[in-house]
Amino acid sequence: AGPCDIYSSGGTPCVAAHSTTRALYSTYTGPLYQVQRGSDGTTATIAPLSAGGVANAPAQDSFCANTTCLITIIYDQSGRGNHLTQAPPGGFSGPESNGYDNLASAIGAPVTLNGQKAYGVFISPGTGYRNNAASGTATGDAAEGMYAVLDGTHYNDGCCFDYGNAETSSHDTGNGHMEAIYYGDNTAWGSGSGSGPWIMADLENGLFSGSSVSNNAGDPSISYRFVTAVIKGEPNQWAIRGADAASGSLSTYYSGARPSASGYNPMSKEGAIILGIGGDNSVSAQGTFYEGVMTSGYPSDATENSVQANVVAAKYAVTSLTSGPALTVGSSISLRATTACCTTRYLAHTDTTVNTQVVSSSSTTALKQQASWTVRAGLGNSACFSFESVDTPGSYIRHYDFALLVNADDGTKQMHEDATFCPQAGLNGQGNSIRSWNYPTRYFRHYSNVLYVASNGGVHTFDAAASFNDDVSWVISAGFA
Ligand code: AHR
Ligand code: AHR
Repeated sequence: AGPCDIYSSGGTPCVAAHSTTRALYSTYTGPLYQVQRGSDGTTATIAPLSAGGVANAPAQDSFCANTTCLITIIYDQSGRGNHLTQAPPGGFSGPESNGYDNLASAIGAPVTLNGQKAYGVFISPGTGYRNNAASGTATGDAAEGMYAVLDGTHYNDGCCFDYGNAETSSHDTGNGHMEAIYYGDNTAWGSGSGSGPWIMADLENGLFSGSSVSNNAGDPSISYRFVTAVIKGEPNQWAIRGADAASGSLSTYYSGARPSASGYNPMSKEGAIILGIGGDNSVSAQGTFYEGVMTSGYPSDATENSVQANVVAAKYAVTSLTSGPALTVGSSISLRATTACCTTRYLAHTDTTVNTQVVSSSSTTALKQQASWTVRAGLGNSACFSFESVDTPGSYIRHYDFALLVNADDGTKQMHEDATFCPQAGLNGQGNSIRSWNYPTRYFRHYSNVLYVASNGGVHTFDAAASFNDDVSWVISAGFA
């Protein structure tokens, strides 16, 4: 059985079922998600390998070979057509043209399920999916449940990495107009014990960890690599539950009355569905989504416990974030551009600006050092890498406003994540392309000899699609210095 077969047996059927990793019904063979590739703009539909099975990631890998791919549609498996697509502007605008949110990279969140590769949805700040015309989801004070499997190491304190029920207008229409899973360490509203991240309920104008609008010590920090998050609500009753999605069982962190603040009892749910954003299209949050559902009716704890067992049996596990020529931690490297204009240019820096410069064996020692980088384990994720300046030890390549800079490590989570990059086989067939860990649609790119993290098409000049594959491909060799 799949999670939605279990919810059906419990009398609380799924009315939305989203996953890029697997079918959520034992007999489901339909589409899981759609990807669009950068090379020609065409799309492909990714389905399970077999009925009820894991997504056909190899089909994505061959479709997306030597180009970039975005997740354009996350299909609803429930049969109700509640698909998730690129979120439109609302109270806040997204970064894409016309205020739409970004779409997620198709390769930002690789995992295995029972040993078979699959991809989750890696949400960077600015990324979001939505359906403002969903059918069958709870409205008003009606009962619903939801769960999601998330990456407990990928979160932030921005508003709001959510999955669940939100406004159909993409605007904040008042207290009680949402009921969604929130995951992260935002403390602007509620919080739990420790320093987070926490599973909370986004009920609009508040992230709730219990009945109080502020701190509730019963809601623990939870940061397993794979987290199961559960929120459910019915008239004057709601609950938060959570677990390690790779083992063990659900714990209940809160179960009781609605918050006493005005507007939350009764609720005024509107029934739209959001992923990765707040109800008003707040787009500052990050997180990773692998699978999740919304139900009709308030699921029993026993039903959810069976769903958790099903998730554990799916055996989510980590897999490599990198490919292409290997890098060795501790070694010094230089990176040569491969675009026809620029094959004598190497990735270098002038003060804090990262650029390309013509470097050779007869260059000055100073220039050789400016064009040499010590490979370090990724400051924000040790499965990837950081690049420390040879002539300025303690300073690393990081992006800021999508320009690459050389900055001293100030010890912050933001710096560490901005300084973490995952090399993959070069998109033009040469060397490596170096993907930003926290913005995996973006790669080291030279543009007018200055370095950015660029996407393959986008709103910035440096995102130009022309010569993208060449501009993001670098031949890595032993460092000049
Ligand atoms: O409730 C927290 C956030 O507040 C909601 O997600 C958003 O709509 C509002 O800004
Ligand atoms: O480069 C994009 C973002 O810009 C970085 O993540 C952040 O440090 C800055 O706001």
